[in-house]
Amino acid sequence: MWVLGGDFYTPTQIANFLTRFGTMDDAVVKEGHFFVAEDLRGAILGSGGWTCLRPAYAQELSVGEAATGMPTVRSVFVDPAATRRGIASAIMAQIENDALADGVDVLQLTATLSGAPLYKSFGYETEENTELILPDLSRFKCIKMRKSLVERPRRASA
Ligand SMILES: CC(C)(COP(=O)(O)OP(=O)(O)OC[C@H]1O[C@@H](n2cnc3c(N)ncnc32)[C@H](O)[C@@H]1OP(=O)(O)O)[C@@H](O)C(=O)NCCC(=O)NCCS
Repeated sequence: MWVLGGDFYTPTQIANFLTRFGTMDDAVVKEGHFFVAEDLRGAILGSGGWTCLRPAYAQELSVGEAATGMPTVRSVFVDPAATRRGIASAIMAQIENDALADGVDVLQLTATLSGAPLYKSFGYETEENTELILPDLSRFKCIKMRKSLVERPRRASA
């Protein structure tokens, strides 16, 4: 977030975001739907997962509180030295396949402005623009998005 979020948020906003919400939740890892990408030496290059647990940020959204129990994509982060090599895409593909195998039809997420282009490229649609209210009462812009994992594009009629 410090490096890749810097074009979208001020250092104070990022510091407050990381202090208040962090980037990863141990409970999400324990659910078993959290993935990492590693290099050949085992160094972690990226992470991400999905969860039905209510995110810590859910009650801090200015509009559109995240619904409880809805499968939600969380903690998609890539090492700044390893971006634009398809690492987040590989993690998102794994997340979607794992969610589908678990019977999930729809995934929701709350995207940072730095993450939104990735999710758009994966077919997630904007539901609404929202903001997280940070502890100093400043606002951290985000986008609520969702995607149906089961809807297929309609075939053009012959
Ligand atoms: C967002 C993030 C996870 C993307 O990781 P990545 O491994 O670089 O993403 P990919 O290489 O798989 O990119 C896939 C596609 O997403 C889009 N995309 C990803 N990063 C982008 C950027 N900085 N600007 C514009 N489009 C971007 C592009 O369409 C890209 O395809 P392309 O490279 O062929 O153009 C990474 O930049 C990051 O960790 N950002 C900071 C943390 C963050 O905001 N995470 C999201 C939390 S909700």
